[in-house]
Amino acid sequence: MRLADKIAFVTGAAGGIGSAIVALFRAEGAKVVASDLTAPTLPCDLALQLDVTDEGEWLEALAAAERQFGRLDILVNNAGIALTKPITTTSLAEWHRVMAVNLDGTFLGVREGMKRLAPGGAIVNLASVAALVGAPPLAAYSAAKGAVVALTRSAAITAAEAGQGLRINALCPGFTDTPMLDGISSDLGQRDAVRAKLARRQPLGRLCTPEEIAEAALYLASDAARYVTGTTLAIDGGYSAQ
Ligand SMILES: NC(=O)c1ccc[n+]([C@@H]2O[C@H](COP(=O)([O-])OP(=O)(O)OC[C@H]3O[C@@H](n4cnc5c(N)ncnc54)[C@H](O)[C@@H]3O)[C@@H](O)[C@H]2O)c1
Repeated sequence: MRLADKIAFVTGAAGGIGSAIVALFRAEGAKVVASDLTAPTLPCDLALQLDVTDEGEWLEALAAAERQFGRLDILVNNAGIALTKPITTTSLAEWHRVMAVNLDGTFLGVREGMKRLAPGGAIVNLASVAALVGAPPLAAYSAAKGAVVALTRSAAITAAEAGQGLRINALCPGFTDTPMLDGISSDLGQRDAVRAKLARRQPLGRLCTPEEIAEAALYLASDAARYVTGTTLAIDGGYSAQ
């Protein structure tokens, strides 16, 4: 039980990776607050509605979790949206929307988490392999995730210097089999053909599973990573090593 007695808060918890994180964290002994645009229906210990772009909703959701459990130990900033467009056809409105969910949402979560998490707590931010290598069809998304990596480093040092043992790290999934990847694949052509092509392009020869990302989130959230902060962990089948 690697998260025994821990209280964890997960955003975007109804999605592919989010729901795998909720399930694994609970299996490892955590009480898990699952939040999404509408309160998720998956098995969890408290289901909340939270649009991560809304500062007021963040404050209400974190307060509700604290009322229920008395404290928070772990925050996973997992909510995200993709936009399958190169820079040349991305409108300013689309850019702002992608930044709002992926970057503003993470900024609000990290800032509020730093104020509230118990000593020895951990924040895990979902970035992407698109933050590490050029991804031409995902221009705004890549920029937002690159900024999540930079924010993670900056905030991790601030948190470390505060001396409470709070750690902040980023995860960079590769192409992971979720509804988000289905959407990207359909945007790029015939869904199954695109997925098969993407799988062939991974050094390990297949797509990643949500459960494999959840395992990495578990590591970063747990005491096994007690000397790990400000790092960026790629779970990408070797894609960014090419
Ligand atoms: N699937 C991949 O290949 C992949 C690769 C790299 C990074 N990621 C990142 O992993 C995270 C999870 O992605 P996924 O693949 O599970 O996607 P998904 O689409 O299955 O799930 C995303 C979830 O975020 C929620 N969400 C969207 N906007 C929100 C908002 N404003 N407030 C709260 N919740 C919101 C959605 O309702 C959904 O449940 C995202 O940050 C994504 O960018 C995914």
